[in-house]
Amino acid sequence: MSRPKVFVSRRIPDEGLNAIRAACDVDLWPDQLPPPADELKRRVADCDGLVSLLTDRIDGALLDAAPKLKVVSNYAVGFNNVDVAACTARGVCVGNTPGVLTDATADIAVTLLLAAARCIGAGTADAKNGKWLTWEPLGWLGQDLAGRTLGIVGMGRIGFAAAKRLHHGWGMKVLYADQFANAAAEKELGAQRVAFDDLLAQSDFVSAHVDLNPTTKGMFGAAQFAKMKRTAVFVNTARGPLVDQTALAAALRGGTIFAAGLDVTDPEPLPTDHELYALPNCVIVPHIASATVGTRNAMARLCANNVLAGVKGDPLPTWVNPEVADKRRA
Ligand code: GLV
Ligand code: GLV
Repeated sequence: MSRPKVFVSRRIPDEGLNAIRAACDVDLWPDQLPPPADELKRRVADCDGLVSLLTDRIDGALLDAAPKLKVVSNYAVGFNNVDVAACTARGVCVGNTPGVLTDATADIAVTLLLAAARCIGAGTADAKNGKWLTWEPLGWLGQDLAGRTLGIVGMGRIGFAAAKRLHHGWGMKVLYADQFANAAAEKELGAQRVAFDDLLAQSDFVSAHVDLNPTTKGMFGAAQFAKMKRTAVFVNTARGPLVDQTALAAALRGGTIFAAGLDVTDPEPLPTDHELYALPNCVIVPHIASATVGTRNAMARLCANNVLAGVKGDPLPTWVNPEVADKRRA
């Protein structure tokens, strides 16, 4: 039997790549930038498996051009770039990388929260640019963290991990908004589930941890920023399109809220002339929440295990669409 063929759409850590190479013929896209859509389509045409990134769009047209494709292993926990229904309809398995990036992502949420609350963006820029003239009693005044109220929007694995850090570290009171109750967060952190609008009104820090789907797209807009405290700090480590960025920029410029920390934007990369970069109270990093050596290695292993299970016909270790099990492509 010939070895399965797998297209890997960007270089991932060797721990994953070598595991795939041991069992499959790998076609690796070597560039820093993603393969253009038509190139991706051409490269997967005769593949059994695909390792995709969140910058690759996986849709029905792509799947129809790849009749042998059995598995899409997304190197990310989020999978809004994958049309999962189209995959399921065609018997194609989808895998993602949950769990292994929870701590790293929660760490960046806390980092951005602290940085935005304590004017680290403006402070580092001013220090470097000769605007640090003396010790200023009224300069770079931020917000205190201890004992304040944290609002977690989406109390899943990552939201819970961020809340743990801020509750145990800074004694924050935790509110959360979610379609589901999280009994562990309520028990361990005394977290209270509240309506989204109440969370916005009562929280000193609002951190987004929901997945992107048609119901969450644009959920943070002008009306939501207007409900937040003028001292509020908004953090987004989930997906850029959750936020109406024009409304966020207006809220930051006009003092509707105090500051924001963003790991994700829309689009990515955010063009360098975007107004959010010009705001001293907006801290932006380039979608790096899972970017630690250990986490990216763990993601690569999990991603490899998913694609290997997919080409072999085994259950995927972390399976987005297990409902496809009884109609998988042979
Ligand atoms: C990164 O954003 C991911 O979804 O893993
Ligand atoms: C600040 O540097 C202080 O000593 O209060």
